[in-house]
Amino acid sequence: MPKVLIESLDDFGRGVTHINDKVVFVPNALPNELVEIEITSDSKKYSEARVVKYLEKSKDRLQSLCPYFEVCGGCHLLHLSYEKTLEYKQSKIKNLLKKNKINYEKEIEIVKNDNPYYYRNKISLKVENGKIGYYKESTHELIEIKSCMISKPSINEVIKNYKLLNLENAKLTIRSNYNDEILLIIESASKEYNIDLEQLKEKIKLVGIVYNNIIIYGENFFYERIRGKLFKVSFDSFFQVNECITSKLFALIKNNIDPNGTVLDLYSGVGTLGIIASSNSKEVYSVEIIKNAVLNGISNAKLNQANNIKFMLGDVSKTVNKLNIDFDTLIVDPPRKGLDKKTREFILKKMPKKIIYVSCDPNTLIRDILELESIYEIEDFKIMDMFSYTYHVESLCVLKKKEEGR
Ligand SMILES: C[S@@+](CC[C@H](N)C(=O)[O-])C[C@H]1O[C@@H](n2cnc3c(N)ncnc32)[C@H](O)[C@@H]1O
Repeated sequence: MPKVLIESLDDFGRGVTHINDKVVFVPNALPNELVEIEITSDSKKYSEARVVKYLEKSKDRLQSLCPYFEVCGGCHLLHLSYEKTLEYKQSKIKNLLKKNKINYEKEIEIVKNDNPYYYRNKISLKVENGKIGYYKESTHELIEIKSCMISKPSINEVIKNYKLLNLENAKLTIRSNYNDEILLIIESASKEYNIDLEQLKEKIKLVGIVYNNIIIYGENFFYERIRGKLFKVSFDSFFQVNECITSKLFALIKNNIDPNGTVLDLYSGVGTLGIIASSNSKEVYSVEIIKNAVLNGISNAKLNQANNIKFMLGDVSKTVNKLNIDFDTLIVDPPRKGLDKKTREFILKKMPKKIIYVSCDPNTLIRDILELESIYEIEDFKIMDMFSYTYHVESLCVLKKKEEGR
């Protein structure tokens, strides 16, 4: 079996080495570690391998506290200290900027998660033949779990008691709010269910259960509270998964809104960022594709006395060109695929003074920055550690219009 020295970590947190000039990816292997590996798959361009034996371990290696770390695939960096995971994310961004020749001379600041374990307020699990767990990465192989180290304790309480749901085969999404209340979303081919509601209610603060899109107990929404603001969130509406980072994100958004301007908030979810921006603004326009999220947004504006927001339901790429408005600041918080061509063209036509880009995928963020580069430059780039101990990087990037003639 080959003995190799791990050279670096790739974008997915895997160790990288080379054998005869061919790149080999090795999960759970850290830079400078000498390991004995077994090749598990081989293609023309690269191989994948698993560690058989650690011959020399890195000084940065920590014993993962999660018993499922090596098999689960949900987290990728639990074998590093928190500080090292942040360094990894920072170098990922630095490398991307350098590779794409994007000029940003300031330090990329990292906004830390105060509680890097037990932070997620939403997870989706599989139940197969009565067993609960995650699918092993890129497979349909169930890894049974009894708890999850990055999910809130209130979510772990549901996992502990999932047998009360009496599910055989299903997808189970568990959402929890600031008050540890629980909303369960179950999707199953079976039309029948037999949930032990009385016992379940004794174990957790159950707000509602939605079974195949139908409410079978309580409500199909709950309220989130962040920085003193209340947000109604329906079972199918997006909400940021990390309360601490979301709170810090809200503060940064607010600081970046210039007084008395008009703001356009695209991909607005339940209206969070628009509502945060509204107190400094003359008016805010928000666009979102999920109907319940728009309805939540309208309720949330009222709940938070934000009377200067208008919500629009629709696909951003089709809706923006119908918007006959001028705006000073644009907030965009798209899904991983980033902005589409029509939206980028719309931005270049309208040329707002400032773009506040909240991104959950640095690759599409950098692609979009390059597309906007003729008019915009980066004023501020921050990593928001929304997805601690995973390779995912959330960023807050403020772009400002270049001065004329530059
Ligand atoms: C990352 S979330 C951000 C939501 C919100 N800004 C927040 O912070 O809670 C992205 C949102 O974009 C919405 N979305 C996805 N594709 C869309 C599209 N083509 N047009 C409009 N909204 C879209 C999703 O439903 C989701 O609510």
